[in-house]
Amino acid sequence: MKTVSNEEIQKQYAFMREAAELNSGKGLRFFVRTFGCQQNEADSERIAGMCREMGYSPTEDEKNADLIVVNTCAVREHAELRALSITGQFKHLKEKNPALIIAVCGCMVTQEHRANAIKNSYPYVDLLFGTGMLYRFPELLVGCLKEHRRRFMIDETEGNIAEGLPVLRESKIKAWVSVMYGCNNFCTYCVVPYVRGRERSRRREDILAEVRGLIADGCREITLLGQNVNSYGKDSGDCDFADLVSEICSLDGDFILRFMTSHPKDASRKLIDVMADSKKCAKQFHLPLQSGSARVLKAMNRRYTPESYLEVVGYMRERMPDIAISSDIIVGFPGETDEEFGETLDMLERVRFDMIYSFIYSPRKLTPAAEMDCQISPEVKSQRMERLLEVQNAISLEKNQAAVGAVQRVLIEGESRSDPTMLTGRNDANKLVHIPRSPLSESKIGEFAEVKITRAETFALFGEL
Ligand code: 5AD
Ligand code: SF4
Repeated sequence: MKTVSNEEIQKQYAFMREAAELNSGKGLRFFVRTFGCQQNEADSERIAGMCREMGYSPTEDEKNADLIVVNTCAVREHAELRALSITGQFKHLKEKNPALIIAVCGCMVTQEHRANAIKNSYPYVDLLFGTGMLYRFPELLVGCLKEHRRRFMIDETEGNIAEGLPVLRESKIKAWVSVMYGCNNFCTYCVVPYVRGRERSRRREDILAEVRGLIADGCREITLLGQNVNSYGKDSGDCDFADLVSEICSLDGDFILRFMTSHPKDASRKLIDVMADSKKCAKQFHLPLQSGSARVLKAMNRRYTPESYLEVVGYMRERMPDIAISSDIIVGFPGETDEEFGETLDMLERVRFDMIYSFIYSPRKLTPAAEMDCQISPEVKSQRMERLLEVQNAISLEKNQAAVGAVQRVLIEGESRSDPTMLTGRNDANKLVHIPRSPLSESKIGEFAEVKITRAETFALFGEL
């Protein structure tokens, strides 16, 4: 297990105090923009925690910020281009306020070619740090505050685990808890192993301490995170993921436990049994399929077949008949034929996922798939995407309609983003549920409530207390 030494963390706390002194009395504010997955969201909460320690208070408006941090994603080109374009827009803010500090971090800039491009073409970016260097943000910031020098640090992508950093959570009701970092799988399309390094599991007791603290603070939903969460413990051998889930579920408190993202090859019967036997564990499983074709799965280096995937799903449903299963699908992987794409559609019909996240294949530098022959044209990729959504949306709607009339437990989160007369929450299946706003429903914010489902749409349910 590779953990950053306590001495090193204390050094970073000393930098945080130094920054706070330098910034004191200035009323400075910070703004963080996050791209990508929940792991990045969790990292951003640590960045926010460090910013607060260093004398900055949060602002929702980048125009008022004295420190801007862009936390980037590299999984698809689209996410990279958006992060670059947003960073480009901050140039004008810097012209107006030369004291503004702009930092770019995360997966995109952990790639050397992107870090170099920022160094050369974005001279107003002051700080840049890779995913493994996150805990050294205070040191870099102090350097910048004192010497007004640009600081770039992307080496050591392997990154040791840093415990004990401050954290400023977005929500009091829901929390992310990273249990492992990195990935060893090297799926041929995916850049994650290159930008997040090899798998590292946190110590079981550190995770349990964090979870206990969250429960004591009244947190109602805890989501364990890892790029390959169910291979937790394989590197350290302390305990496996099923044991970890079991141990967390045995803690007292009114909370629901989720986890993501799981790899089908590591979705063990032991884990499924633990879920089935636990009241605290959500009956929900996110299990990326990626493709329904055995040949494509092999070319993706996924290490399972459509048959073995169906077996896992079969056992989940045997133990938990109402379990909600969601998935990730990639369309247009190099060499994917119409027939192979048809096999993916067949799998959607056979599994009947509650929900999928679908992606158009995006070639990523360094990954083997980017070098494969027979890249699929953008037109074919878009057509396949449309067809995929058509098939899945019909299934999602049917599945949601089947819930009408049922009474479900919903964690009420707050005002709906699209309609201020409604509150939203999530049921155990992690589906969005909207309920009318009233003094009674408002009194339930942050709590579980029993909701009768009255209407269903493709992406949401509607109900009343
Ligand atoms: N192109 C498209 N989608 C990708 N994903 C990962 N890499 C790529 C890529 N190069 C998708 C996978 C993964 C999800 C997080 O992103 O479906 O499960
Ligand atoms: Fe990427 Fe595959 Fe690892 Fe998931 S399991 S992060 S898709 S390499």
